[in-house]
Amino acid sequence: MNSRDNSTPLQGRRILLGVSGGIAAYKSAELCRLLVKAGAELRVVMTDAALEFIRPLTFQALSGHPVASSLFDGNSDDAMEHIDLARWAELILIAPATADLLAKLAEGHADNLLLSTVLATRSPLAVAPAMNQQMWAAAATRESLLRLQHRGVLIWGPEAGEQACGDTGEGRMCEPADLLDDVRRHFEPGPLQGRRLLLTAGPTREAIDPVRFLSNRSSGKMGYALAEAARDAGAEVVLVSGPVCLPAPAGVTRIDAVSAEDMRRAVLEQLPETDIFIAAAAVADYRPAQPADQKIKKSADRLNLELIRTPDILAEVAGLAERPFCVGFAAETRDLEHYARGKLERKRLDMIAANRVDGEQGAFDNDDNELAVIWADGSIELPRQPKTRIARELIAIIADQFSRRPNDD
Ligand code: C5P
Repeated sequence: MNSRDNSTPLQGRRILLGVSGGIAAYKSAELCRLLVKAGAELRVVMTDAALEFIRPLTFQALSGHPVASSLFDGNSDDAMEHIDLARWAELILIAPATADLLAKLAEGHADNLLLSTVLATRSPLAVAPAMNQQMWAAAATRESLLRLQHRGVLIWGPEAGEQACGDTGEGRMCEPADLLDDVRRHFEPGPLQGRRLLLTAGPTREAIDPVRFLSNRSSGKMGYALAEAARDAGAEVVLVSGPVCLPAPAGVTRIDAVSAEDMRRAVLEQLPETDIFIAAAAVADYRPAQPADQKIKKSADRLNLELIRTPDILAEVAGLAERPFCVGFAAETRDLEHYARGKLERKRLDMIAANRVDGEQGAFDNDDNELAVIWADGSIELPRQPKTRIARELIAIIADQFSRRPNDD
């Protein structure tokens, strides 16, 4: 991959490069050189194991600053304490990040300067893993990565290929030029920078009695993936979520709602200043008219529930005089495009994302999805792919259409 022009956006960015003890540590010297050349201010922290692979003098010469490695040495007046380093850095990038370091990060250890700096920072953390392919595939490493990912840690790489140990497989640290591109992308303002995006996700639960409810099969995965993609595109994201088993994405404000009425209230409360509203929740269309105060006993052979309509949150928001750019979802079992276009017009939406919910390939509680994205004068088919990736594409389309709307300021 070619790196782009050297001027921006890294000029003056304060980056802490953490180096842990793997053979790929020699590549970090080149990464350090490239980052400095691109205008970044670099400080380097090495673990004791890293010192076995490469001398700190190399990084000192390249970064122009003394290299810190111990929590307790304090032998250089110019070396910052871990709390100062943690506050100073706008980004901490650990390259290479060994299996041991990833496990310790996941556990929150702080028994060396690098780990304690990471624990003390509020800035984003990126890791470039590097290890033997078997160690990369090990269940313990998978679990550490999952925990880190859920906390919003950026995982850059690794790549597949020949390894220092002679194995071939996934686990090679990304090349320095590719990591430089990742850092650049990280600092580039996203297309939704400065925008506020409000999103609903997951199902709602409509009480029948204190222990029973009506609900549906929505897992919330698509909505949560959209929240993360919007955050990565630079938006301030507020997620109003029905009951799901997903952790709140890092950097996103989550507000929990149970019933359609709760969700409506939360949405209306959060609406002021919102630029884009995405209704990805599978809101129950009906609720029991009279939820019982006490648990209903199973005495009768037959029980009739009277259902009444819930508020249509999306239609209500889209019908307001001052309204955000409104995106809805349509889940249909047949005539997908036809019904979706009808809904776009009826609910006066700016865009609708339609998915099929029948058969094994349906969208509900699935990690993959395919979408037909439709707006007044255009449409795009997004082929079947993981929800995380489709979410990024959908957010890019939304950002593009949002920027073209007539009243864009
Ligand atoms: O009409 P239908 O329920 O198929 O519309 C789906 C779209 O409307 C979704 O974007 C969903 O989040 C939204 N919706 C809503 N409130 C409802 C029902 C649906 O916001 N009560």
